[in-house]
Amino acid sequence: MSLFTIDEKKCHRDGICAAECPLSLIVPPDKDCLPRQIPGANELCINCGHCAAVCPRGALSLTAMPLETMPPIQAELGISASQAEQFLRSRRSIRVYKDQPVEREVLERLLRLARFAPSGHNIQPVHWTVFSGKEQLQALAAGTVEWMRWMMKEQTAMASLMHMDLVVAQWEAGKDRILRGAPHVFLAHAPKAERTAPAACAIALTYLDLAAKALGLGACWAGYFGAAAATFPPLQKALALPEGHLAMGAMMVGWPKFTYHRLPERNPARVTWR
Ligand SMILES: Cc1cc2nc3c(=O)[nH]c(=O)nc-3n(C[C@H](O)[C@H](O)[C@H](O)COP(=O)(O)O)c2cc1C
Repeated sequence: MSLFTIDEKKCHRDGICAAECPLSLIVPPDKDCLPRQIPGANELCINCGHCAAVCPRGALSLTAMPLETMPPIQAELGISASQAEQFLRSRRSIRVYKDQPVEREVLERLLRLARFAPSGHNIQPVHWTVFSGKEQLQALAAGTVEWMRWMMKEQTAMASLMHMDLVVAQWEAGKDRILRGAPHVFLAHAPKAERTAPAACAIALTYLDLAAKALGLGACWAGYFGAAAATFPPLQKALALPEGHLAMGAMMVGWPKFTYHRLPERNPARVTWR
């Protein structure tokens, strides 16, 4: 089966599809020939959709991703550089949540947006498990505390570097510094052997964080829980992820209780220009 079809009437033989294909799978058109795939392209194509997305005339339609499934970009919805700067600078790690769950449709919308994060060779290896409800999240935080107690005995230096003694002391005093009373925690996981999965999960979680802000939600990396989920066998057993999967990061999500009013400063970029 061919990877794509070309509408001969629409194609202007500009060769943009061929120029943009990340794997050079398209033979550039000439006056006698429309764009066509190279031999073996079916096995090499990474289904990124660039060839169809970049065609200014909608002349190329992919068999696996027909043009009707690719909405046109709405220029009027684009944001200015200042709006983007304000959005990125005003994203905050949110740690105080309203005592109210987030509707399933909103959580689903969040995941739909996180799917657009880039991944090596477009393999999209990220899987999600979403935990909800006080009882379940308390059990996950308790499992993380168990890991911290183990770390404080077996890996003292690392435990003290991560201030685990303080977190455990606060847990014992009734304060959860691990999942912070959030109503939901999103765990990103992927096949252990997939080389690019750690980066893909980190980027997908970052997309989730930004998408949460866009939807008026609050989110915060759950670093302690994520580390315990990746390394502590009793917690891994309780999580029951699919066979061969490894936890690669987690994010708390909920409705923020408070609003931020200012933009805190960060270090200047450390850069070497060469
Ligand atoms: C990998 C990673 C792990 C983190 N883990 C935690 C965590 O376990 N608990 C927490 O409250 N914040 C956690 N954070 C949030 C950072 O503390 C926060 O990003 C930083 O203080 C900057 O604040 P901002 O995100 O509001 O700009 C984590 C952030 C990252 C990137």
